[in-house]
Amino acid sequence: RKVALAYSGGLDTSVILKWLQDTYQCEVVTFTADIGQGEELDHVRPKAKQLGVKEIFIDDLREEFVRDFVFPMFRANAIYEGEYLLGTSIARPLIAKRLMEIAEQTGCDAIAHGATGKGNDQVRFELGAYHFNPAIKVIAPWREWDLTSRETLLAYAAKHKIPITKKKGGGSPYSMDANALHISYEGGGLEDPWWVPDDSIWRWTKNPEQAPAKAEYITLKFKHGDVVAVNGKKLSPYKVLAKLNEIGGNHGIGRLDIVENRYVGMKSRGCYETPGGTILMKAHRAIESITLDREQAHLKDEIMPRYAKLIYNGYWFSPERNALQALIDDTQKHVNGEVRLKLYKGNVYNAGRRSPDTLFDAKIATFEDDRGAYNQKDAEGFIRLNALRLRIGAKRDRK
Ligand code: ARG
Ligand code: SIN
Repeated sequence: RKVALAYSGGLDTSVILKWLQDTYQCEVVTFTADIGQGEELDHVRPKAKQLGVKEIFIDDLREEFVRDFVFPMFRANAIYEGEYLLGTSIARPLIAKRLMEIAEQTGCDAIAHGATGKGNDQVRFELGAYHFNPAIKVIAPWREWDLTSRETLLAYAAKHKIPITKKKGGGSPYSMDANALHISYEGGGLEDPWWVPDDSIWRWTKNPEQAPAKAEYITLKFKHGDVVAVNGKKLSPYKVLAKLNEIGGNHGIGRLDIVENRYVGMKSRGCYETPGGTILMKAHRAIESITLDREQAHLKDEIMPRYAKLIYNGYWFSPERNALQALIDDTQKHVNGEVRLKLYKGNVYNAGRRSPDTLFDAKIATFEDDRGAYNQKDAEGFIRLNALRLRIGAKRDRK
């Protein structure tokens, strides 16, 4: 047996690495992705080497992540349960994809990951893995071993001399997951949904109360539903998101504290910061507001919860996601133009939109004389026919 492990370089996956070698007597290949988590990955290679790994993959997937996963998802305005911008959900399929490529390339017959048996991530990794190789063997140590607490994990690390790299600022008391789109925090004190974390939990966003007292205006340029420039400067997809994270974080934008429904059936409380994503969502809706046909827009809004749920539940690589994506992408042909936004103390406000492909027609919409562009008399018959069944019903009910 030979196993490709999704390796973060942290304590949990380092213990998993050692545990796999011992339990399965196998060679382990590690894969670590830079998806914009903003963490130094320099320590990963020496650490994996020290643990006896010969094939170590560390890939910069930041552009692919934003271009091929985040942006397509934002074309759909996807939000899970009215709040969650799916920051972790959208990263897992990419990790699964690259892990499977590496498994194939290095002749692995199994993959392993560090997600627990209680969460969503295991589902996302594994559905992705089976998509690329239906015969792959999946090892999820958290579902197998007896290292069920922090202490037993640390004891195992100590016993096997697994180096524990100190993170700056000390270890977080939370289970965190970060990438170019968001940071998530779960566990620890958050397991009491009434308890509110100290402000120090937040790493990317200022407390809105401490954010600048002066509003900032930004302009985003869209092409086919994706942002291609910020404040007149052309940027790559990853750079767009990084820039918006920086600007949004400074204004305290995108903090979230929610209880969500996990796919496995339990409720889970989490805090999220998604500054750039929050700005992007508002901007995308603004540009769509002038470039989409009404029924196109409403159809998108109807399928959106379904699309969001399917990403949340791990079905990125599925025939139904592909079908919905084709529909969504088809609606984005004319989603071009510029949006201006005002950022102020945790909020994003619309402050202008314009497009060469606009459907907004001031000559028709005007409250002033429209010089025959719209015949108000037409509205009479329009209303009368739409009222027909209501009037018939009302007549019956008055009897
Ligand atoms: N609850 C979120 C989700 O399911 C975030 C999961 C965070 N993952 C983690 N390994 N801490 O998408
Ligand atoms: C985990 O259980 O590994 C993290 C949380 C989740 O996947 O939902």
